Amino acid sequence: MAKQIREPGTYLYPLPVVLISCGVGDQANIVTLSWVGTLCSTPPMIGIGVRPSRYSHYLIQAAGEFVVNLPTAEQAHAADTCGRVSGKDVDKWAACGFTRAPGVQVQVPLIAECPVNIECRLRHTVPLGSHDLFIGEVVAVHVDEAVLDEEGRVDFARLAPFLYTGRDYRRLGERLAPVGFSVK
Ligand SMILES: Cc1cc2nc3c(=O)[nH]c(=O)nc-3n(C[C@H](O)[C@H](O)[C@H](O)COP(=O)(O)O)c2cc1C
Repeated sequence: MAKQIREPGTYLYPLPVVLISCGVGDQANIVTLSWVGTLCSTPPMIGIGVRPSRYSHYLIQAAGEFVVNLPTAEQAHAADTCGRVSGKDVDKWAACGFTRAPGVQVQVPLIAECPVNIECRLRHTVPLGSHDLFIGEVVAVHVDEAVLDEEGRVDFARLAPFLYTGRDYRRLGERLAPVGFSVK
């Protein structure tokens, strides 16, 4: 191997692609994010990195809530749209053919067409530099029964999520091995 030493950067690819619904009432908006991660199991916490210049940044802070919606590969076009235009200029719900559905714990609407919706209450805001880290506690989760297997677990072949490589979007590949296979 001949390795180059590069300037510091995150290099943590591939990344998930999620659609964050944010804002309440007529202001409700959708933003595509990939600076997203699981931070804690109990209580369940998800972190999202959002530039203060995004319209959605203002909406998340104002409502103190957001919803993480998981798009399928078939929704990649909509996810790209929600990551290229601003809710200040465009009604992304109408542009993408998405429907608002009510949450059970938050006022922010869910995206009905996404198979998984994770309702979050904003617990911490950490300014980091180019992005602010919003840490949300998961307060309710909605899962479409059509993506569950016989044991009630999310079947990723049915969920069909996709990833962001920094340059393009990719589907999940083949299953490599079950967790724990190394010690069996
Ligand atoms: C695949 C993808 C991932 C993105 N990830 C982020 C992110 O993690 N944080 C962020 O601030 N912007 C991210 N963006 C950019 C925003 O989605 C984009 O600026 C959007 O138009 C902002 O919309 P708004 O003004 O309605 O909030 C991403 C865009 C794409 C296409």
